[in-house]
Amino acid sequence: MKYHKETFDPLNLAHAKDIVLVPDPTRPHKFAEETDHLVEFMIKNVPLIQSSIVLDFGCGMGRVAKRLIERVGCKVIGVDISAGMLHEAQKYVSDGRFNPKFNHHEQNIDIALAAFALQHAEKPEEEIKKINSVLKPGGTVVLLNEPARYVPTEPKNGMAVWHDDGIKVSDLMTKHFSLVGYYPYLGNHNQILSLWKKG
Ligand SMILES: C[S@@+](CC[C@H](N)C(=O)[O-])C[C@H]1O[C@@H](n2cnc3c(N)ncnc32)[C@H](O)[C@@H]1O
Repeated sequence: MKYHKETFDPLNLAHAKDIVLVPDPTRPHKFAEETDHLVEFMIKNVPLIQSSIVLDFGCGMGRVAKRLIERVGCKVIGVDISAGMLHEAQKYVSDGRFNPKFNHHEQNIDIALAAFALQHAEKPEEEIKKINSVLKPGGTVVLLNEPARYVPTEPKNGMAVWHDDGIKVSDLMTKHFSLVGYYPYLGNHNQILSLWKKG
């Protein structure tokens, strides 16, 4: 089955919002609520300060980066495979502390966030190794994933098609983060939202 990375390319900001967080007609404020929830969780549980450098892996349109910068004043490097997403993120965040790019070669990342991103990656194990290579010893990874992978495949009738390949995302994350020496220190049993420390 062909991995269809173009599924992540937005037509405009409204489309980007729908891609990064599936809208729920019963929850008109879902976008703001979920973004706030994640950022407040990070502020409470992760050593985030103004001088922190955060990697936002699969940053999308920068919804979390923008809020993190507003709340903490930290620097955020946003990485994404979609040029269209990076373009929207640049406009949406529009702050000198945000640096959107395709690759994360910078060393000395204090905190890496991957929100609904590693679950969709074509080769999550390779992305985890790359994240590991830029994170400081003792650094933290904040992971947010759905239970299933949802791989983007060929669209049908102009609609995105997400394939559940049967892999349990929490098992995948545990395997590959353990391989590069991380241990989980906070999370629920499905690791929908979990924190990992670089050993
Ligand atoms: C569902 S969106 C989530 C975006 C953002 N993290 C958020 O929560 O708003 C997934 C994002 O991950 C990006 N992505 C998928 N695979 C990636 C990869 N291998 N490297 C970098 N970004 C990737 C997509 O382009 C997309 O913008």
